[in-house]
Amino acid sequence: MAKLQVLDHPLIQHKLSLIRDEKTGSKEFRELVEEVAMLMAYEVTRDFPLQDVDVKTPVAIAKSKMLAGRKVGLVPILRAGLGMVDGMLRLIPAAKVGHVGLYRDPETLLPVEYYCKLPSDIAERDLIVIDPMLATGGSASAAIEFLKARGAKNIKLMCLIAAPEGIAAVQKAHTDVDIFVAAVDECLNEHGYIIPGLGDAGDRLFGTK
Ligand code: PRP
Ligand code: URA
Repeated sequence: MAKLQVLDHPLIQHKLSLIRDEKTGSKEFRELVEEVAMLMAYEVTRDFPLQDVDVKTPVAIAKSKMLAGRKVGLVPILRAGLGMVDGMLRLIPAAKVGHVGLYRDPETLLPVEYYCKLPSDIAERDLIVIDPMLATGGSASAAIEFLKARGAKNIKLMCLIAAPEGIAAVQKAHTDVDIFVAAVDECLNEHGYIIPGLGDAGDRLFGTK
């Protein structure tokens, strides 16, 4: 079974509380989502391998470490996943970004694909699928399925808030995908919204209704 990690760093938890607050407007919401994504990227990349390097400082040679040339791909699920891309790129600027467009049918709650554009070499990349919300898990599972169908092998999933139902669904469908979240909430309501959650992530990010 892949691992589930709840990132409980105080800065992440503080900012997540502000994100949840219904009084937080779109501008601040966007800024906070970006900041939390950046902080989460720090933990999600913790297992990246290092290599030894010699660095010539102004006074001597330092036996140092650098990333061992790992190729990374970020895959936001449109549209709310877009809000997390820039924060992650600040820490992983060389990452390539692929996009998977999915929306949940409001009646069936099943994901409908409308866009997919990925780097050509995804099979060689460490992919991080990003979406603020993991509710039923249908969208994340479908996105991961698309990536695997196109050759991806090494995939992680990073979300701000997850429902237990969504975690269970992804873990069942994709036993090889580690999941990183900032919070696991109580449940889903009858419309598939996470309780207490933060409402509709896409609408809050982009000011739509
Ligand atoms: C939201 C969210 C996830 C999905 C989660 O997107 O950003 O992609 O719902 O729900 P699930 O786990 O039940 O699939 P939404 O479908 O509202 O589209 P949007 O990002 O375009 O608003
Ligand atoms: N999508 C959202 O944006 N919010 C939820 O609570 C569930 C799905």
